[in-house]
Amino acid sequence: MRNSIIAGTGSYVPDNIVSNDDLSKIMDTNDEWISSRTGIKNRCISIEENTSDLAYEAGLKAIKNARMIAEDIDLIIVSTITPDMQMPSVSCMVQKKLGAVNASAFDVSAACSGFIYAVDIADSMIRCGRHNNVLVIGAEVLSKSVNWSDRSTAVLFGDGAGAAVLKADDNKKGILYALTAAEGDKGQYLEMEEKPVISPFSNNKGTNINKFITMDGKQVLRFSTRVIVDAVKEVLEKTDESIDDIAYIIPHQANYRIIDYAAHKLNVDCSKFYLNIRDYGNTSSASIAIALDEAFRKNKVKKGDKVILVGFGGGLTYGAILVEI
Ligand code: COA
Repeated sequence: MRNSIIAGTGSYVPDNIVSNDDLSKIMDTNDEWISSRTGIKNRCISIEENTSDLAYEAGLKAIKNARMIAEDIDLIIVSTITPDMQMPSVSCMVQKKLGAVNASAFDVSAACSGFIYAVDIADSMIRCGRHNNVLVIGAEVLSKSVNWSDRSTAVLFGDGAGAAVLKADDNKKGILYALTAAEGDKGQYLEMEEKPVISPFSNNKGTNINKFITMDGKQVLRFSTRVIVDAVKEVLEKTDESIDDIAYIIPHQANYRIIDYAAHKLNVDCSKFYLNIRDYGNTSSASIAIALDEAFRKNKVKKGDKVILVGFGGGLTYGAILVEI
C-alpha cells in the first residue's frame, strides 16, 4: 500500500524581531497584558520580504533536508491567506524561484488550518499515485494585513514560513490519519480583506470595506478550545492510539491559553504540546510547519515517534493529522 512520509522539513522567518516592549512604543499595550493572555513575547515582522520570499527559503531548506533537488518535486502546494498577489499564486512564484520545472503548483486557503489541509491533499495525491514528491509550504506575511491601530489583534500575529517534503513510500509509516473540517456558519468571527463587487454596473460604492484582520476574540477562543480537543480525540479514536503513545502534539500556535485548556481536557501535561508561540506569535498557515521543523532540528522528535499535528482558525476551519516520523 502506497503512502507518504515526511522526507524533510524547513522553515524561515524574517530577521526583524519585534518584542512586546517594542509594540508598547507604537500602541497602547504592554508586555504583561500580551504575555499573560497569549504567551507571546516576540514575533518576526517582515521589512521587505513578501510571502513568496519566505515560502521559497523554507521550501529550499525542506528540499535540501529531504536530500532532493528542486527538479525532483512534482507538486508544490502553498497554504497562505496573505499571497503576494491574487495571481499568480505563491506556489507558482515559488516554483519559478526554485526552478522546480517538473512541478505543478497551486495555493490552498484554509487560514490557520491551511498546513493541515495542504498536507492532507498532498498525502491523497501521493496515495492515489498521481504525485511522488510534494513540497508543502505554509507561508504568511500577516503584518501587511494586520490593522496596526487595533491593539486587540495587532499584538497576536507574526510573519514566517515552514515547509515539508512528502514522499511516496511503501512502508506503513508517515501520514497515518488525517481529518479536516469546516464550520462556515462561524466565518464572520475571523475575517480579512473583503472584496465586494464594485464595477460601473454595481450599486456598491466601496465604502467601509474591511481590508484588515478583524476578530471576535471570545468566539474564536470558544471555537478553538472546543475543536482542538475534539480533533485530537477523533484522531486517537480512529487510529486506536493512546495519547500516552504520542510523543508530541504540535498545535497551531495561536494562544497559550488554548493549549493549557486542551491539555487539561485531554488529561495530559502541557509539555505534551510542542510550543514556540513565545518567539513567533501566531503565523497562521506557517505555525505548525515552523514548529514541526524546529522540533526536528532540536531533536525533540525522532524516527518512530508518533506526532499529532492540529490546526484551527479562519473559515472557521480545523484539522488534525497523525504522522509516524
Ligand atoms: N493591550 C492591552 N490591553 C488590551 C489589548 C492589548 N493589546 N487588547 C485588548 N485590550 C484590552 C481591551 O480593550 C479590554 O479592555 P476593557 O476591559 O477596558 O474594554 C481588555 O483588554 C480585555 O479585552 P478582551 O478582548 O476581553 O480580552 P480577552 O481576555 O478576551 O483576550 C484575546 C483577548 C484576543 C487574547 C482572546 O480573546 C483570545 O485569545 N482569543 C482567541 C484569539 C485567537 O487565538 N485567534 C486566532 C485563532 S487562529
